[in-house]
Amino acid sequence: MSYYKVEKTDRLEGEIKIQGAKNSALPIIIGSILAGDIVSLYNCPDISDVRDLLDLLEKLGATICFFDNMLYIDGTNIKNMPLTREEMSKTRGSILFLGALTARFGQANLSYPGGCNIGKRPIDIHFDGMSALNIYIYDEEDDMIGAYTEEIIASDVNLKFPSVGATENVMLLATKAKGITRIFNAAKEPEIVDLQDFLNKMGAKIKGAGTDCITIEGVEELHGCSYKIMGDRMVAATYMAATAAIGGRVKLNNIKGEYLREEINVLRKMGCYVKYKKKYIIVSREKKSKLRPMIFIESGPYPAFATDAGTCFVAALLMTKGLSVFRETVFENRYTVAEEFEKMGAIIAVAKGKLVVIDGVDKLVGCQVDAKDLRGGAGLVIAGLMAEGTTIINKVQYIKRGYENIVSDLRRLGAKITEEN
Ligand code: UD1
Repeated sequence: MSYYKVEKTDRLEGEIKIQGAKNSALPIIIGSILAGDIVSLYNCPDISDVRDLLDLLEKLGATICFFDNMLYIDGTNIKNMPLTREEMSKTRGSILFLGALTARFGQANLSYPGGCNIGKRPIDIHFDGMSALNIYIYDEEDDMIGAYTEEIIASDVNLKFPSVGATENVMLLATKAKGITRIFNAAKEPEIVDLQDFLNKMGAKIKGAGTDCITIEGVEELHGCSYKIMGDRMVAATYMAATAAIGGRVKLNNIKGEYLREEINVLRKMGCYVKYKKKYIIVSREKKSKLRPMIFIESGPYPAFATDAGTCFVAALLMTKGLSVFRETVFENRYTVAEEFEKMGAIIAVAKGKLVVIDGVDKLVGCQVDAKDLRGGAGLVIAGLMAEGTTIINKVQYIKRGYENIVSDLRRLGAKITEEN
């Protein structure tokens, strides 16, 4: 098992290209099932979540070729097969096989999905949305779920919460439905827009993604296409938070600044200079301007502050003089990383898994810590760069689920971090 060795770093400086978005790549790769044809994806992140998903597609009969962030999927011979608990447990995104396989074959059988340990993650909203399109969903033995339909029939769908995954599952299904589906209270995340643009390139008729009402006119057939996946907002947010924490000047390319407006507002309030355009973001903070504490940051569905960016911003605030308060509203137990921050000397309290209070300390001290989930692990990297001495981060497989090059990216910016075995 490898680990990261992180040393105190005084400044980050330079520019890097942001990888393709994990949360776009996963639905788009699964969405390719709908075509039964060849799909070419550019800017696809080479992360373990993507590799795990490709293993499942191969098992279903797809032919895959993946190199240099270019991914070719020939889905002509995909067959409908059950996906077991072991196969589904690796990534949460695999729940979208339910919509995609049902859209293509009229039925699906799979286990409940896995994913990061950030609290209970029910899938009732997925089921409600799919049931509205005439899909019969039932429990099978051994924790398996079955979905079956004679015909996918379009309908109005009201989501009780703008769940990203449920919006995507309904979009995939409705693409092949008879008639016009409208999803109300849809998730508005940029990755939903990316999925819409991809499906439309395959011949779907979808509009409204990015707003809370998505309209999908069902089509009989889809075809192959080539598509470039958008840049990863959460990887950009990680490096932005790292620059705020350490100080320096960093330019992030291949990322649309507009998609991180709320995170940028927070950084500016914390005392950073941020400039952004359509294809890049520049963040800078010189050492003489101290980071300011944030009395209240609250996560929420897009366009609110992203839940996935929270742990990195909390890490950046660990050494900011004064009290900072962060309220997590999306997931119930995202802050188990707080225990690891405490081992490094941070003063941090988490109430009911959701309300995080930080009293900034003068110094953090490196020690052995464990990544317990993807974004918490990224937060530990930032804390390690701030801490005196050496921080050893174990269980980095969690971090690799979503970050293609966190070590080499940060090294390029001057960070003292290496991967060791
Ligand atoms: C996606 C992202 C994840 C991000 C999250 C919120 C992917 C692969 N993952 O996850 O990185 O943190 O959006 O922006 O895109 N919920 C229910 N019932 C459901 C579905 C969700 O109660 O049927 C709850 C969840 O438990 C959670 C909240 O709704 O508390 C948000 O979940 P959702 O938006 O569905 O997130 P994911 O699609 O799982």
